[in-house]
Amino acid sequence: MEFQKELNKEAKNIINQLAVVLRSAQFHSPSNVAVLSAIEKFVALINPFIESEAVVSIEVVGEFFYVNDTRVRYSVEFLLNFDYLMKEFKERELGNIEFKNVIGPVDMQRFIKAFLGCQNAQDKLIAMADMMKETPQMILGRLKHIKEEGDSDPRKVVKKTYFNAVSFSKGVISKIKSGEKVGLKKAKRVVESMVDMILEEESLVLGMTAIKEYDDYTYHHSVNVSILAVALGHKLGLSKKQVTELGMVALFHDLGKMDIPPEILNKPSSFTDQEWDVVKKHPYWGAQAAIKLKGLDSTTIKTAIVAFEHHLNFDLKGYPIVRYTKELDFFSRIVTIADQYDAMTSSRVYSRVPLRPDKALSVMVDRAGSMIDPILLKVFVNMVGVFPIGTLVFLNSKEMGLVHETNPLFNDRPRVLVIVNSQGKKVDGYVVDLTDKTDDGKYKRSIYKTLDPNKYKINLAEYLL
Ligand SMILES: [Fe+2]
Ligand SMILES: [Fe+2]
Repeated sequence: MEFQKELNKEAKNIINQLAVVLRSAQFHSPSNVAVLSAIEKFVALINPFIESEAVVSIEVVGEFFYVNDTRVRYSVEFLLNFDYLMKEFKERELGNIEFKNVIGPVDMQRFIKAFLGCQNAQDKLIAMADMMKETPQMILGRLKHIKEEGDSDPRKVVKKTYFNAVSFSKGVISKIKSGEKVGLKKAKRVVESMVDMILEEESLVLGMTAIKEYDDYTYHHSVNVSILAVALGHKLGLSKKQVTELGMVALFHDLGKMDIPPEILNKPSSFTDQEWDVVKKHPYWGAQAAIKLKGLDSTTIKTAIVAFEHHLNFDLKGYPIVRYTKELDFFSRIVTIADQYDAMTSSRVYSRVPLRPDKALSVMVDRAGSMIDPILLKVFVNMVGVFPIGTLVFLNSKEMGLVHETNPLFNDRPRVLVIVNSQGKKVDGYVVDLTDKTDDGKYKRSIYKTLDPNKYKINLAEYLL
């Protein structure tokens, strides 16, 4: 554990130094003093980790670098070098470097030569690997694309994976209901493909969770909560393995709802006190059902814990009533946030009118410290943006549009899909970036206010799918 912490701390320096090495080598010969000293620094940074861990891998997933499965955080000081390195890696289809043994300056010089010398080759990666035969301790791997062969539109892949997860959830619940013993193996595969998608196409996937006009609320809700939890866990720096477990656990957080009689669950009007008492039992029933899943292991136990705790709230004053005073499980605190956000912005829970995404966030901010973990909420707000994907906005240019992609650096300046132009005419939809400036340095467009999509009869699905 200590080792992993150290590595996480140094990971951004390792990536940065690799960029420094390659950048300097592009301007000087590999034997130049500047290049040599950059190489020496890199070797000194990485070797201690290879020595204690045996293997250190640098991997590109989506727009991020991973060092031994942990995402390297972008820091502003290194931004240019990171972007440079990402571009160069992708250009060569280089997706992974595995250091299987300690390296010396000669190995790095060979790497530089291969890196710069492969430019004219048909397959740059093969050419590089070929030139590095004498350095067997560095293994180069090809960039992985999640997109399927012939399926080049990422939207289609995202959609398919999303709906696949929904129908899986539906199937699992009906199997359990009919008394079949169900395990988590298939759930793991389903969540793994969602995790891959979230890492590569975060905005698109979060966009899927913004569409709320579905018939099967329960199953869409489970998948949405799973996606939001995974994305939040990812932002918090959890490993791929950890977010996969988190996604599985989140997918089953409302497992206990299958024991609520459908006439109560699907009631169009509000619950009576007696009905509420029944609904409030679902965390308890969920924990029971989780324990009965096939093969009791740490994931099923975690599933039970989160199912039990997800309405307990940060201050433990929710339901069910408990006597313990220990703090909520970390996963429970994450799932609580994802659950509340999705429930509030959907229409079918307890016949509540859906809240606009930005309104839901402000309600949640009011709950920080009492019902919700305040620190995790900060990260969540930063993730979904002040104006989350799907928010209907009116711009000072008099255009109306939907938030299409959030901007983590400028929370209030997302990319917007304009659907009504400044003349009040419906248009096919063009995307504008609110960080765009005019020649005199002023923003071309800003958000003037958010609007209620129901009032304008806007069907989000039509635009986001
Ligand atoms: Fe629930
Ligand atoms: Fe829920």
